[in-house]
Amino acid sequence: MKKIIIAIDGFSSCGKSTMAKDLAREIGYIYIDSGAMYRAVTLYCMEHDLFDADNQIKEEELKQQMNQIKISFKLDEKGLPRTQLNGVEVEDRIRCLDVSSRVSPVAALGFVREALVRLQQEMGKEKGIVMDGRDIGTAVFPQAELKIFVTASAEIRARRRFDELTAKGQNPSFEEILHNVEERDRIDQNRSVSPLRQAEDALLLDNSTLTIAEQKAWLFEQFKKATSHA
Ligand code: DC
Repeated sequence: MKKIIIAIDGFSSCGKSTMAKDLAREIGYIYIDSGAMYRAVTLYCMEHDLFDADNQIKEEELKQQMNQIKISFKLDEKGLPRTQLNGVEVEDRIRCLDVSSRVSPVAALGFVREALVRLQQEMGKEKGIVMDGRDIGTAVFPQAELKIFVTASAEIRARRRFDELTAKGQNPSFEEILHNVEERDRIDQNRSVSPLRQAEDALLLDNSTLTIAEQKAWLFEQFKKATSHA
């Protein structure tokens, strides 16, 4: 069967990566979490003193260092991708709240987006890829054969992230997470470069009341439809 590109975009913490990962595993495609790449650049900035005392990014310095930032993915024993930053595994570190609260301004920088979009397009050259993010269907792969735009209410998304962190043994504050979710929505939707928006030809999925199994079944159905006429 001809391989296609599947773009899954939407708001933060709405379960995009879970559904993208599951689908990729089921159909034997590569899964790429593009948000992990923006998070890895943010971690690099934190580790290289690229935030000033007011938490502003030192843009010029980051621009100079962009070509020293190498991001890749290595599959673990379950076949799941683990993010590597300059050859070092950073998968867990890029998920902490510290990175979450600093990543949106980094992802709003035009030169950061240019570099990462180029890398993402390179990764999708052979097709057979499921990529999730904010601008995959609009900017990275406007030609993708299947585009999904996922949404859910901010409270539900914050609750899911709260449960996820609690399950990992952390002790998060729900209010802080909700604030972080709303703040990221605001920045992601209002930035000048590639703001978060639904591509005209994307299918809308509001998963506020869907179980993971229901959402998985819906997505697989869309994949079957897309490949039946690809
Ligand atoms: O999906 P996530 O929460 O891991 O994404 C982290 C941040 O990166 C979020 O603020 C949005 C941004 N992002 C983006 O601007 N474009 C993408 N393709 C993916 C993520």
